[in-house]
Amino acid sequence: MNRAFELALLGKPKIRSNPAVGCVIIHNDTIIGEGYHRDFGGPHAEVNAILSVQSGDMYKLMEATIYVTLEPCSYIGKTPSCANHLIENGVKHVVIGCLDPNPKVRGRGIQMMREQGVNVEVLRYAQTNANLNPGFYSSMLHDRPYVTLKWAQSSDGFIGQKGQGSMPISGQKGRHFTHTWRSEHHAILVGSNTVFEDNPRLDVRLVEGESPQVIVLDRRGRLTGNEMIFSLGKEVWIFSYQIKEIEHHRWFTVDPSKPLIPKVFETMLAHEMNTLFVEGGRQIHQAFLEGPMWWDELRYFTSREKLGQGIDAPAIPADCTPYIREDIGDDEMVILRSKQTWQNFISL
Ligand SMILES: NC(=O)c1ccc[n+]([C@@H]2O[C@H](COP(=O)([O-])OP(=O)(O)OC[C@H]3O[C@@H](n4cnc5c(N)ncnc54)[C@H](OP(=O)(O)O)[C@@H]3O)[C@@H](O)[C@H]2O)c1
Repeated sequence: MNRAFELALLGKPKIRSNPAVGCVIIHNDTIIGEGYHRDFGGPHAEVNAILSVQSGDMYKLMEATIYVTLEPCSYIGKTPSCANHLIENGVKHVVIGCLDPNPKVRGRGIQMMREQGVNVEVLRYAQTNANLNPGFYSSMLHDRPYVTLKWAQSSDGFIGQKGQGSMPISGQKGRHFTHTWRSEHHAILVGSNTVFEDNPRLDVRLVEGESPQVIVLDRRGRLTGNEMIFSLGKEVWIFSYQIKEIEHHRWFTVDPSKPLIPKVFETMLAHEMNTLFVEGGRQIHQAFLEGPMWWDELRYFTSREKLGQGIDAPAIPADCTPYIREDIGDDEMVILRSKQTWQNFISL
């Protein structure tokens, strides 16, 4: 199963909102096939693993054990049902990492195979699967993207000073982490003040990787189109209560009686994006933290320097469980997770 998870990870860059899944086929202690989900909407891991089996070895499938990180799907979506594919190929023994959180599957894949005489074992890899696919779990169980809030704070708890523009708070190593994290998310979101104060690029520059979709919350419609984010050749999404247009970018006007954040969630899911990285500032972080379960993870760096005064760092909510605490260069990195979110993820 460890090998199957290693394979699953290889698919991460190209599968968008689909889950990363790996599969290994073992016959008499020898791997005779392996595969993973490579492309969004493309063949699933089980299909690729069976395709990799040498034609002269196909008869061995009946005696082989299939290890697959996530329950094989039971329904016909962009590709045919994998549970059926295994049955049709004469497979008799399947070991599954955990149940699929997709309500269209959740146990049905297992049931289909058992009804056809396949011996199915289910292991307890829900945590590993959720770590690998937080966006998929969040979209399936909470009907919204997985939301990570990130900031850097001084040792006395400030994230910046009004009117001072962009202030580097974390060190070079911390900034590399931030760029890696950006590249691992489908979208990055900030509030309009951060755009005005810092004029950030919000792209991935310090590491290899794709830049996420930039989203700005701008209820009063103050953005002009002259800010840096609009000049980088990538479409920016602005969510606002005002009606406005910025050429080559997308302006979403939301009913002023409704909050903007659920509209962002809905729009992201409709575009097959299920991971959101929020980079502040304080008001925006608080809006996510104070919403009805609108956040899942907090990541922050604390530098050794003091600012003395400024904009307070976000308030850490009570519903947090420590995940990582580590020194990164001169900064301390802390990652906390929402207890509620992760209880829901691993309860399957
Ligand atoms: N150290 C760090 O990690 C870090 C990161 C980012 C920013 N910063 C600093 O943070 C400062 C900006 O933070 P900030 O708190 O003043 O502003 P902010 O959170 O960046 O933006 C706040 C603005 O967003 C708009 N907004 C849209 N939807 C909102 C909602 N649901 N709730 C609240 N606001 C909403 C509001 O303007 P409308 O009313 O017009 O909509 C509001 O004025 C800057 O000084 C920047 O340097 C630090």
